[in-house]
Amino acid sequence: MTSPAATAPEPEVEQRTASPASKKSAYSDGYTANKKQVAPSAPRPSTDEILVLDYGGQYSQLIARRIRDCGVFSELLAHSVPLQEIARRKPRGIILSGGPASVYAPGAPKLERGLLELGVPVMGICYGMQLLVHELGGRVEEAEVGEFGRSDLTVTQPGRLLKGMPKEQTCWMSHRDTVIEPPPGFSALASSSVSPVAAVEDAERGIYGIQFHPEVVHTPYGQQILMRFLTDIAGCERSWTAAGIVDDQIERIRAQVGDGRVICGLSGGVDSSVAALLVHKAVGDQLTCVFVDHGLMRKDEGEQVMSAFRDTFKVPLVAVDAEERFLEKLKGVTEPEAKRKAIGAEFIRVFEEEAAKLTGAGGGEEQEEVRFLVQGTLYSDVIESGGGTGAATIKSHHNVGGLPDDLQFELVEPLRALFKDEVRAVGAELGLPERLVWRQPFPGPGLAIRIVGGEATKERLDVLREADHILQEEIRRAGLYRELWQSFCVLPDVRTVGVQGDERTYGYVVVIRAVTSDDAMTADWARLPYDLLETIASRMINELREVNRVVLDITSKPPGTIEWE
Ligand code: XMP
Repeated sequence: MTSPAATAPEPEVEQRTASPASKKSAYSDGYTANKKQVAPSAPRPSTDEILVLDYGGQYSQLIARRIRDCGVFSELLAHSVPLQEIARRKPRGIILSGGPASVYAPGAPKLERGLLELGVPVMGICYGMQLLVHELGGRVEEAEVGEFGRSDLTVTQPGRLLKGMPKEQTCWMSHRDTVIEPPPGFSALASSSVSPVAAVEDAERGIYGIQFHPEVVHTPYGQQILMRFLTDIAGCERSWTAAGIVDDQIERIRAQVGDGRVICGLSGGVDSSVAALLVHKAVGDQLTCVFVDHGLMRKDEGEQVMSAFRDTFKVPLVAVDAEERFLEKLKGVTEPEAKRKAIGAEFIRVFEEEAAKLTGAGGGEEQEEVRFLVQGTLYSDVIESGGGTGAATIKSHHNVGGLPDDLQFELVEPLRALFKDEVRAVGAELGLPERLVWRQPFPGPGLAIRIVGGEATKERLDVLREADHILQEEIRRAGLYRELWQSFCVLPDVRTVGVQGDERTYGYVVVIRAVTSDDAMTADWARLPYDLLETIASRMINELREVNRVVLDITSKPPGTIEWE
């Protein structure tokens, strides 16, 4: 169920395909960038849960993440989800998120009064608080002047929610309408220079409201306030841990798969790796992993995946060296979308062939049919795709290059309830090597889309791979790898003149791209130290004969994108 009205104002999503059919996927390899909608839902683990109802706030997803950081499971649902559905989930508490609307705007989301009759505490944040105050008879005023950014908060009467917290603290505000008077039966707990009533509660009825955002780091006591709501007020047990997730998922996978056979496309990325390991832990050698090496990987990546899975974890693994096939398909292809399409289509072909071999249909030994396919779908994918019914058909997903709809496997998606940082924690819990757990995102079409404006030939891919290797090595050596969302090289199809020794050269330009980001929706170019840049550039020029110039990309997103193609 999608709720377009509830989506937060966000940076524009650039559409890389012209086709209207690309609504689901901005990329022809099935990859979807930067969409946010609100949907039910991931499979519920057997643990206490707090539901966050999304009124369209910029930070709604972050609220759920912060709650999970406190050790309590939390899901984000559209504010329009029927009351019966909310009641069925038996949450221990409900949070109403912020949102862009004014309670006075025509069509503004309303409060479902039944939420207050469920017998569980409810806390409104920002718009969520204004909605509670407005509906319960308090006074909210439309204001000319808003309150955006850091504010000084004075706790006038701590009540239950702010008990034990400093009288003076800072917080992060982002609102225009302002609460002037709490509803009857409520106490005002705090104020700021712009907001006479910045927090309210009616502890007897279990209704709380805060105007500021406890989920952002700029509210230093925010996590403490959330924790107070979760534990002292809602009585949640803090049992949401990586070890608990592993146990819970193993049980679920066993129940789903029984003694059936399972296949998993490994990409080397953290999601498919963790998903595969969980399934292997649950059903052992009923799982076979398929690793398609399309020759567009980074240096040593294939070996690392094989050594971890085949040698360390003893997971049955079919590794397909398909470099030549992919290079053949990329011959003469220069246009970015055509590259993505060629790679996506070939990926499907190779994967299908291997699946057929495993089931005996490809002329191999007759074996029991493979019924299940593992996918590393994350909770953010579930939210973004607006789906979540767990339908038993393939959804294209960049981890496996985008598989077609007519491959009729039943999906096993053990990460469907998890955010990326939780996936990493589960990976570490399962003993996945640090290098794989913390791997930076890497696009499905690999290095091919980093050879810009030209054909991805073997020669160019090798130059780019070596340059990228130098960059990664130096960034790791400087201890900066984890701080960066991504760091990589781009090889434009241009040559420039240089002079090396006594010779004039005509070589490639390598572009260094390094960005910081939280979610790839926006990104800032990383201020790498000059000395580090110098080391990287001189290593590239000295060690790579074909390269005679190194430049740094200092474009943020927006207006640039992270990748160049
Ligand atoms: P952009 O370039 O849109 O990238 O700022 C946002 C994030 O998406 C990754 N990306 C891709 N991933 N297939 C993928 O699987 C693609 O075609 C693709 N293009 C971009 C990019 O690396 C960044 O993390």
